[in-house]
Amino acid sequence: MDGAPEKQDLHKKDPKVVQGMFARIAGRYDVANRVLSGGVDTRWRKLVVRRAGGDLTGQRAVDVACGTGDLAAALDRAGADVLGVDFTFEMLAHAPKKVRPGMWVQGDALAMPVHDGLADVVTMGFGLRNVIDRRQCFRELLRITKPGGKVLILEFGMPDRDLFGRVYRSYLTHVLPRIGGVLSGDRAAYRYLDSTVQAWPQADKLAEEMKEDGFETVEFERLFRGIAYLHVATAPGGRG
Ligand SMILES: C[S@@+](CC[C@H](N)C(=O)[O-])C[C@H]1O[C@@H](n2cnc3c(N)ncnc32)[C@H](O)[C@@H]1O
Repeated sequence: MDGAPEKQDLHKKDPKVVQGMFARIAGRYDVANRVLSGGVDTRWRKLVVRRAGGDLTGQRAVDVACGTGDLAAALDRAGADVLGVDFTFEMLAHAPKKVRPGMWVQGDALAMPVHDGLADVVTMGFGLRNVIDRRQCFRELLRITKPGGKVLILEFGMPDRDLFGRVYRSYLTHVLPRIGGVLSGDRAAYRYLDSTVQAWPQADKLAEEMKEDGFETVEFERLFRGIAYLHVATAPGGRG
């Protein structure tokens, strides 16, 4: 079968194609993540929890594009009441075994079935890159966050074009789709990862967009020489 049309479709970020891709790799997603990141993804999720406040006892957290629930599980361990939202049923199906009292909802990050101002903390790990309209997603994240609440977005970035950056780019384009393909059984999913990461805006541009869309403060930190970034934003209205 010719893989070209599928690759082309993935570039367009058609939600149905994206959903189908995550449905296909859902069963092997966690293992592929651990191997491909060498476990660093787990450390990044723990960092999100620390930046959210560390002890989240009594706080409501919504993890958007929660996938198989790893970030939601980390929020749960920190004491939060967690709601996970994702539009791929097959990814969500793996989440309940990780979070005892968690709640899971199948829904679109661009129009979530969640009340206005529900959450003290809203997180999104490696999900924003996949939505077709990130500005609409920012507005949705803000809508479900209570005044003064925190929104934390963990997403891949691109290192500088020094030696490390050049090696990483080459790994992303040539090595990762092969290993990811073997681990997940779906090479196209990892070509998609490469193309979306390479096309992703710089962290400061993303922060600017978030401010334009209504976040009161936006800070970001560079992780592992720019392979990922964590944006931490606050919703307006916290001080009354
Ligand atoms: C790379 S996975 C990240 C999963 C999880 N947050 C993590 O850190 O492992 C991206 C997830 O985003 C979800 N997703 C993509 N677009 C979405 C949308 N518009 N609405 C809801 N979920 C979406 C996919 O179904 C997938 O589970």
